[in-house]
Parts: sequence; C-alpha cells; structure tokens
Amino acid sequence: MTGAMKVEELDTPVLLVDAGALERNIIAMRDIAAATGVAYRPHAKTHKSPIVANMQLEAGAVGVCCAKLGEAEIMAAAGIPDILITSQVVGRNKLVRLIQAAQTAKIMVVADNEDNISDLSSAAQTGGKPMDVLIEVDIGQGRCGVPPGPEATRLARLIAETKWLRFRGLQGYQGLIQMTADFDQRQAQVELALEKLMDTADHLKSASIEIDILTGGGSGSSIIDSALGRYTELQPGSYVFMDSRYRHAQWPGGAPCPFENALTILGTVISRPATDRAIVDVGYKAASSDGGPIVVAGNMDAEFSFAGDEHGQLFFPGRTCPLALGDKVTFLPSHCDTTVNLYDGYIVTRDGLVEDVWEIAARGRVQ
Ligand SMILES: Cc1ncc(COP(=O)(O)O)c(C=O)c1O
Repeated sequence: MTGAMKVEELDTPVLLVDAGALERNIIAMRDIAAATGVAYRPHAKTHKSPIVANMQLEAGAVGVCCAKLGEAEIMAAAGIPDILITSQVVGRNKLVRLIQAAQTAKIMVVADNEDNISDLSSAAQTGGKPMDVLIEVDIGQGRCGVPPGPEATRLARLIAETKWLRFRGLQGYQGLIQMTADFDQRQAQVELALEKLMDTADHLKSASIEIDILTGGGSGSSIIDSALGRYTELQPGSYVFMDSRYRHAQWPGGAPCPFENALTILGTVISRPATDRAIVDVGYKAASSDGGPIVVAGNMDAEFSFAGDEHGQLFFPGRTCPLALGDKVTFLPSHCDTTVNLYDGYIVTRDGLVEDVWEIAARGRVQ
C-alpha cells in the first residue's frame, strides 16, 4: 500500500491490532473446534466490535456471546443475528431493552433465579415473542449460577412450563482455571468442572427435560473442551487478542500456544530521569492493571511498573536504559478485555503499516 502511515508515526498511547495475527487466531480457534466438530460462539466481551464478530462468524462461529445487554444491543444493531448474553439480565429497565433488542436478533439469556424467570416471561409476553433461556450452573467459579445438581431441574421445569419461555440448556463457565500453566493440571481442573455440569445435565435428563445447548469454556481450556466433547458449544473470548498473562499456559505435548498476541499498546518515552529508567506515556488510563503489569513486547529486557494515571516506568536493573526521548515502545496488555474498554478504536496494522481504524462500538457498554 503506497502512502500508508508507518506504525512508529502514530501518536500515542494508541491501541493496535495486528490484522494478520488476529486472522490467524480466528482460524486457530476454528480449527480447534473443527477437529471434533463442536460448535463455538466466541465471546465478544473481549473485542466489543461487530467487525471482529463478523470475522468470527465468517470463519464458522454459530453466533457470539455478550457479557452485558449493552454489548448485545450494539451487536444486534450491527446485524449480528445470534447472541447469547452470558450474564443475568435483571431489572425492569433492562428487560424492556432486552425485548427491544430481541426484535432485531435472536437473543438467548441465562438465568439462575425463579423471580428473574418470572420477569423474563412477562417481558417476553409484552414483546410478543418467546424468549430462549439457559440455566447457569456454578461449576467452580463461585460467581453466578445455581449449584450443580437438582436446582437446575426445578428451574428448567419452570421455564419449560412457562408459555413465553423456552428452555434451551445449561451454561457452565469456570474462568479461574483458564490460565493454569501446567497442561495436565489444567486438564484435570477442566474435567472436574465439567463433571459438575454433566451431573446437572443428568438430573435434567432423568426428569425428561431436553437439553439442546451445553455451553461454556474459555481460551485456555478450548483445546481440552473440544477433545472432551461434553459441551455442545464453546464460548472462548481472549483468543482473538491474547492477554500476556496467558503466556505461561502450556499446550498439549509442549506445543506452543496457537494464539498470538494480536493486541498491543504503543507508547512513547516522555522522560529519561535516570540512566536506568525511562518514563512512558502509558499509565492506568491507557492499559488496564487488573491483570498485573503490562509487558514490553520483543526482547527488550525491561521491567514495567505503572507510575500513575498517565505514566509508566521502564526500569533496566543494573544497566543503562537504551531508550531515548521520543522512542516508541510496544506493550502487550496483561488483560485485553479491560484494556479494550479504555479506547474508542483499534488502529489496525499489517506488516508495520496502518491499514484501517475500527470503532470499538461496545466500548463502555457496561449496563
Ligand atoms: C461467561 C464467560 N464465558 C467465556 C469467557 C471467555 O473466556 P476467555 O476470555 O478465557 O476465553 C468469559 C470471560 O471472562 C466469561 O466470563
């Protein structure tokens, strides 16, 4: 492409997506699912972008997941046809919005509470369209969900007997084990979590309640989830961009993780206060910190620490900092989902050149 801007010419801090790495990640997850034929519905909470969602659908995903109704509204308005909202939708205002969004897309929701099920039914009746509902089961995360066992059967029966609701299946997601470094240990943790989901499914089956969908799983467990064949749908999110904190998670047989770091933050050195230190313009407002410090990309052996809302420090222990004022530094976010939520758009790059700008349309849609 002639005349395209070089990445180093961009003003900073700025959020970059390497188009090639993103495309390869999307294909890698397609291949993991295709190896066993399991369906997959990537989690759009990571990228918050209908453009990326459409790339995932084109690769063969059956739909997308959204964490919040606000994300689902953006996806539905952009023409994404099939959405599962993986968090409970509670409260009158939200239910009115849910019914409106469900006029343009097929939207499924999860529930774990009798009153919420009754409210969903009233809302669906008002909208004149039956609502598909899954029961969330807590398979070890200790967040939302009914405990594994008979409670899901009671709620599923309630849904099945409610005119305006359709019971579709179970959601069980265990996020705490996605980054377990040792592969065998991760496999054992996934099996334990899935046992809880399958026990619950057995309760339902013995009560003659049909299950279409068993959904869950994340990027770290995807290879295991696909091989075990228990879920009917996988819902990985991070794999499109990959958090730097996933870098310790081993893959079977010592194989490298098939997902690349497609998301980076470009920063600039704005001060050189000491021989072994540089200050960059990347602080808490340009990179999320809930996943720990961000990591310098490449081979530069420097320790990053947040130094305030607008500042980050690069420390070169026992060495002279090789960076000069104005130098650009590339960082890998420790947690992509929360970092993406800080920016209005992605600068899309290929081979070091700027290719496009994509709006992060669901950025800030936390309601
Ligand atoms: C319910 C649910 N499903 C799937 C995912 C995706 O997991 P990962 O980002 O590890 O792929 C998440 C992430 O937090 C989640 O909360």
